[in-house]
Amino acid sequence: MSRRLTAAALLLLGLAGAGPAGGQTPAPPTEGLRHLAAGRDLWIGAAVAYAPTAFPTDSRYVNTLAREFNVLVAENVMKWQTIRRDGRASWRFQFGDELVAFAQSHGMRVRGHVLAWHSGIPSWLARASFSREEAIALLEEHIARVVGRWKGRIWAWDVVNEAIADGPAGSRRSPQESVWERWIGEDWIDVAFRAAAAADPDALLFYNDYNIEAPFSAKQNAVYNLIAGLQARGVPIHGVGFQGHFVLGQTPSKAALMASMDRFAALGLIVQVTELDIRMSPPITPAKLAQQAEESRRVVEACLEHPACDTVVLWGIDDGHSWRAGGAPLLFDARLEPKPAYFAVREALAGRPGRL
Ligand code: G3I
Repeated sequence: MSRRLTAAALLLLGLAGAGPAGGQTPAPPTEGLRHLAAGRDLWIGAAVAYAPTAFPTDSRYVNTLAREFNVLVAENVMKWQTIRRDGRASWRFQFGDELVAFAQSHGMRVRGHVLAWHSGIPSWLARASFSREEAIALLEEHIARVVGRWKGRIWAWDVVNEAIADGPAGSRRSPQESVWERWIGEDWIDVAFRAAAAADPDALLFYNDYNIEAPFSAKQNAVYNLIAGLQARGVPIHGVGFQGHFVLGQTPSKAALMASMDRFAALGLIVQVTELDIRMSPPITPAKLAQQAEESRRVVEACLEHPACDTVVLWGIDDGHSWRAGGAPLLFDARLEPKPAYFAVREALAGRPGRL
C-alpha cells in the first residue's frame, strides 16, 4: 500500500514541506497537499465558495484550489437553495456545471453536496405543504435531475445531511424542523438513497452529519442505528461523512476518531471527513494557531492510519470565506497565506507510515 511510502522516501522526492521556521510563514511550496496525499492513497479536498471574491473570479483563490486539492465540493451551489431558488420549475445548474468542469480539467474528484437536508432549502419549499405522495415525487424528481445532470462525473454524493438532532436523546429531527420528515415520514431517507442509486449507480452514496466523531455518543449511536436500518432494508449506502466541525481544544483524540471509524467500518462503510474546520475564539494567537495545527494534524493522521478512511475535506480554503470566519478555522488565512495548520497537515501527509 503506497501509504507505506516512508517520510524519508518522500523527503528524497522533495515532496515533504518544512513547517514554518520561527514566526515567519513562508509561501506554500510549489507542490501542494494533493501531491503528498496522492502518495499516501488519500484524497484531500476543499469546499469551494462560488463568489466574486472566490471561485471562479479570484485567481489566487482558484490557483490555491488547483494546487492544493484533488477533491472539491460545492459549498452551496449544488444545494436546493441554489439550484431550486426560484421555484419548482427552476433548475439553476450553471454554477455546479462550472465547478464540475473545473474539477475535470484539473484532475480532481467531486463530492456532491447535498440532495436531501432539512436546511439549505428555498423559501418556496419551506412554505409549501405537500402530501406524502407529492413530497416523494418532488424529492425523487429533484434527485433524478440533479444526480442525472452530473452522472458519471460526481464520485460521491452526500445524499442525506443531518437527520439526527443534537442533544442527549439522539432522536431524529422533528417534523417541525424537517419538511421531509413532516411530509413523508421516517422513510424519506430510504427514498433519497434509492433515488440517488437509480440516477447514478456508480456514485458512492453517503450519509453526512456532525458531532458523530466521538465514540458512542447518543448522536453517533443514533446515526449508527439509522444506517444499520437502511442496510437491513436493502437501501444502497456506501459511506458515512464525519463532518468534523470542531472547536479548538475539543477536537477528538486520534484514538477516539479511529474508534469511531472502526464502528462504521464494521458496517462495511467508507468513512470520510467531509467538512473539517477547527474554530477558535478570538483573539487569534500563535499559541492557538499552534494548537489548531496539532488538532488538524491528528485528524489527517487518523484518516491516514485507518483503512476505512480515504478522504479529508476542509470546509473551505481560507478563513475569509468560511461560514465561521471569525474563528479562523481553516488552513489558509483571509489573505490566502498558509497557516501553521497547513504545514502540520503537510507534514502529516509526508510523515510517518500510514496504515499498519
Ligand atoms: O449567495 C447569497 C447572496 O446572493 C445573498 O445576498 C445572501 C443573503 O441572502 O445569501 C447568500 O447565500 C448564502 C450562502 O451561504 C452563501 O453565502 C445563504 O443565504 C446561506 O444560507 C448559506 O449558508 C451556508 C449554509 O451551509 C446553509 O446552506 C454556508 O455558506 C455553508 O458553509 C453551510 O455549510 C453547511 C453544510 O452545507 C452542511 N453541514 C454544516 C455546514 C455549516 O452550516
